[in-house]
Amino acid sequence: MEWLKIGFLASHGGSNMQAIVDACRNGKLYGEAKAVISNNSGSGAIERARKHGIPHYHLSSATHSDPESLDRAIYHALTDNGVTLIVLAGYMKKLGPLTLRHYKGRILNIHPSLLPKYGGHGMFGSKVHEAVLANRETVTGATIHLADEEYDTGAIVNQREVAVLPDDTAETLAARVLQCEHELFVETLVKISEGQIVL
Ligand code: GRF
Repeated sequence: MEWLKIGFLASHGGSNMQAIVDACRNGKLYGEAKAVISNNSGSGAIERARKHGIPHYHLSSATHSDPESLDRAIYHALTDNGVTLIVLAGYMKKLGPLTLRHYKGRILNIHPSLLPKYGGHGMFGSKVHEAVLANRETVTGATIHLADEEYDTGAIVNQREVAVLPDDTAETLAARVLQCEHELFVETLVKISEGQIVL
């Protein structure tokens, strides 16, 4: 069993982070949240970190106008807290080369579709679900993949399907996929900790 020392990067609500923190706290997941970084000082992710006493940092082009200094700041916020696994949970920015290189193979991202379908540049949030509905898909889902320099192109680590219902709207579908994401992320991290998934 590997004790996961998780660093989160999140831009928005942080519900995926919350699901993982809850699993650590209730003993389902053998690990702990070591740091939370957000490019949005008002994000739910920062608020949740503050509430849970997790070291948190607002790091963005606003705090560091030079991309290299931002990359170094993110790198140090992670390494200074002993992070060994990075979880991108709705992080809308790209990581810099220093952080990508140091954590290569240990950076997980979650995407609200069955990649490679509905992935890539511009495919995020409700745009994904709107495209799934427009194409009359009967099934969608969530994907956890390794993050690399590009969006949504790293090796797929785990996926789970979600049915598309006839009366679904982008909102109802997004809500059901988000619930699936929470379950999939916790399941995936448990399997990594137990060695059932090897990164
Ligand atoms: C999720 O829908 C995820 O698929 C996408 O961003 C959203 C993050 O939601 N990458 P939250 O901030 O974890 O609630």
